[in-house]
Amino acid sequence: MEEIQATLQRLRDEIRHHNYLYYVKDAPEITDAEYDQLFRQLQALEQEHPHLVTLDSPTRQVAGEVAKEFVPVAHLRPMQSLDNVFDEGELREFDRRVREGLGVSEDLPYWVEPKMDGLAVNLTYRQGILVQAATRGDGKTGEKVTANVRTIQMVPLRLLGEGWPTVLEVRGEVYISRQGFHDLNEWMVDRGKPPFANPRNAAAGSLRQLNSAITAERPLAFCCHGVGHVEGELPASQSEILELFGQWGLPVSKEAGVRVGVAGCLAYYEDLMARRDALPYELDGVVYKVNQLAWQERLGSTSHAPRWAIAHKFPAQEVVTKVVAVDVQVGRTGALTPVARLLPVNVGGVVVTNATLHNAQEISRKDVRVGDRVVVRRAGDVIPEVVRVVLEEREEGNQPFVMPCQCPVCGAAVEQPEGEAVARCSGGMTCPAQQKEAMRHFASRGAMDVDGLGDKLMALLLENKLVEEIPDLYELHQKRQALIQLERLGEKSVENLLAAIETSKKTTLPRFLFALGIREVGVTVAEHLANHFGTLEAIMAADEERLRAAPEVGEVVARRVAGFFRDEKHRAMVARLQELGVNWPIIEVKAKAEGRLAGKTVVLTGTLSQMTREEAAARLKAMGAKVTDAVSRKTDLLIAGEKAGSKLEKAKSLGVEVMDEEGFLALLADSDVEK
Ligand code: IVH
Repeated sequence: MEEIQATLQRLRDEIRHHNYLYYVKDAPEITDAEYDQLFRQLQALEQEHPHLVTLDSPTRQVAGEVAKEFVPVAHLRPMQSLDNVFDEGELREFDRRVREGLGVSEDLPYWVEPKMDGLAVNLTYRQGILVQAATRGDGKTGEKVTANVRTIQMVPLRLLGEGWPTVLEVRGEVYISRQGFHDLNEWMVDRGKPPFANPRNAAAGSLRQLNSAITAERPLAFCCHGVGHVEGELPASQSEILELFGQWGLPVSKEAGVRVGVAGCLAYYEDLMARRDALPYELDGVVYKVNQLAWQERLGSTSHAPRWAIAHKFPAQEVVTKVVAVDVQVGRTGALTPVARLLPVNVGGVVVTNATLHNAQEISRKDVRVGDRVVVRRAGDVIPEVVRVVLEEREEGNQPFVMPCQCPVCGAAVEQPEGEAVARCSGGMTCPAQQKEAMRHFASRGAMDVDGLGDKLMALLLENKLVEEIPDLYELHQKRQALIQLERLGEKSVENLLAAIETSKKTTLPRFLFALGIREVGVTVAEHLANHFGTLEAIMAADEERLRAAPEVGEVVARRVAGFFRDEKHRAMVARLQELGVNWPIIEVKAKAEGRLAGKTVVLTGTLSQMTREEAAARLKAMGAKVTDAVSRKTDLLIAGEKAGSKLEKAKSLGVEVMDEEGFLALLADSDVEK
């Protein structure tokens, strides 16, 4: 029994250590698979010996409890709020008050850190074990959310190391990263639920769930920013305490540190502000805290906020303005996007005049009307969007928005299939808007990447009928004179453009696939398709069922891809592009451990009538085979097409299995069915 206990202990310590490396240090030392294995080992052992399971075991970091209501809990020390400053002058005033209060004239060291846009929680650790988690509530009393917080992987159930105070209240912020917010909202919308307006609401909504199983599925993150009640010893400064927290496995912001005086604080503010959009989470601003605890105590607090800390806010990412019009834009795939034209307003430091309303369903869900005052939100480099209408301020007579029945660009009928959020122009490639967008997409960065061929130039080429459809781009060199005569285009830029077009011919299969602008085929799906099939021919030949064998290709994507290539116009376009010299290297399809020919060495010889040698090789590799050139004793299988010569002889003499094209095609068909 002692031995088992020791093993359990070792496994738990090891897992905690790896949790720490992963969540706090952001530097894992083992792969996810290795971690999973450790975890499963612990789970299995605990299942065998349930009486040895402890509350702080990493296996218990999962949902369990379903509560009827949230129980109020008193914080051992109140959770205060923060006062704000919005500019340098106000910050200087804060610093002056602090130094006056302390009676010091020199510049003070401040602990500086991001102000996360989430919600504050209080974690109570007793003897290093998490015994309670509570929301801030009114600052004195919060709500017990222990079961929910226990599902957040970044929150350690037991502190690492040693020397923790007997009782320790850790304060921090529960938040959701940009990516987590995006994924969560997609998930909500997929299930017909209204999306969250911002990451803060998403974090709050996710934490306040009576069923902790729901919280467990939400991408909540956690970051410490202070301490509450303490029974025991802690260092004398904010920086040392948070450093120690880090060692105990509590996540602390990587952006935090010590800066001296107002100048140091301002430089920090400017730096973070400049990087704001590139950070993986949303920030409200930054927080400055007098670093020495003794000084914090001397300064004390007002009724609601400490005098030793201040939040320096960034320009808001949500502001209110007025909708002056709603226009409808037509996208590459014909999707109609309603766009709100706004009274210009500064959002997060950028002047915004338009905001997307996404689609027909969203605009009716939000019921945005011309004349309404609306909350506009801009986050990261995302397109500004209308979050909601300020209904209290709606004026009588503002009329609901109605989607047009005809495409505003080409006049073709607008379709909105039952159950779909998006209304679409039915004009297809005859709609100039769709054609223009398709060409723009084709030339864009992640696609064929024609350097210098931006929106404006593309519009110019189309207006002047120098290009009408995508492949025309590759014949532009025959129109050099006409190009040079275009307004604003000199000889030099024409040469550059033609050179860039020429360069773009040499591409990769995933890029080309993506460039075609097939609905639902983004960069990732394009890569999966390319890696799975190896060649464009194989993709074009595949039916929906075979397409679905590629990773991340579901029913809808398969239908779109198959449908796209069934269209004669599209096949002709692809053929013409290839004739004009667009090319890419063949993809080595990775061997699959479980494929029909897993680990087998196969040689191809002779001529195949149904496919090229390259495609055959790619298909073989997809089945797990290694394809080599020469026949030897190690060869497991020779596939012999027409006019096979010496390789066939040699294979026969060595007793290697030989298969003709018919047999090979049957094998391929078989393996497709297996998938
Ligand atoms: S310290 C004693 N530090 O902002 C001071 N708060 O506006 C208590 N917040 O309720 C807060 N990031 O939810 C502090 N680095 C940070 C923070 C932070 C976000 C939140 C916290 C607090 C609110 C006050």
